[in-house]
Amino acid sequence: MPLPVPLTTPRLFLEAFGPEHLADLHALNSEPAVMRFLDGVRTIEQSRAELERILAAPASPGCGGWAVRRRADSLFIGRCGIKKAAETGEHELLYAFKSAFWGQGYAVEAAAAVLRHTFSLGVPIVIACALPANTASLAVMQRIGMVWTRRARMYDEDMIVYSARG
Ligand SMILES: CC(C)(COP(=O)(O)OP(=O)(O)OC[C@H]1O[C@@H](n2cnc3c(N)ncnc32)[C@H](O)[C@@H]1OP(=O)(O)O)[C@@H](O)C(=O)NCCC(=O)NCCS
Repeated sequence: MPLPVPLTTPRLFLEAFGPEHLADLHALNSEPAVMRFLDGVRTIEQSRAELERILAAPASPGCGGWAVRRRADSLFIGRCGIKKAAETGEHELLYAFKSAFWGQGYAVEAAAAVLRHTFSLGVPIVIACALPANTASLAVMQRIGMVWTRRARMYDEDMIVYSARG
């Protein structure tokens, strides 16, 4: 499988993750506020293992992870990606941004671009899930046009699942 193609939005540049992103990924993974609903902060070994998983050939078309940079200053601000949900095999949208960049619409801008790109590849449906308390994440789903779909057990947690169709 090829690497995910670069994507550009008015304020952001989304590039395929590479080995050079370890420090940025780990900085994101080290923030308690970011990892609050994602099983807590990671060690550097866990971040390295995660990056290796991201860099391994994507398991299927339409899957992949992007590092998100701000076009104005090239700063790494977060990540966005698509993977196959272990529980259902559906394409699942994921995102996390450094807390210094919350509240500026970057997550919505990046997630909307990844969603559009995924549908352009012919993927018919994309889901996203969050814990009920993760209201910021649920708001991103709503703002990019996803709709409440079901509650489901995912990642060993009771999640709210949203979805969108291409
Ligand atoms: C989920 C997460 C990415 C959402 O971040 P966020 O900052 O709330 O989302 P956005 O960056 O899109 O910002 C949305 C806010 O920016 C505002 N905004 C939207 N477009 C904007 C623009 N063009 N310029 C400035 N502000 C804008 C919106 O009004 C919204 O603010 P509101 O709360 O007043 O409605 C963030 O909370 C996060 O990284 N959490 C940790 C990881 C995580 O839980 N991921 C999801 C796992 S399910």
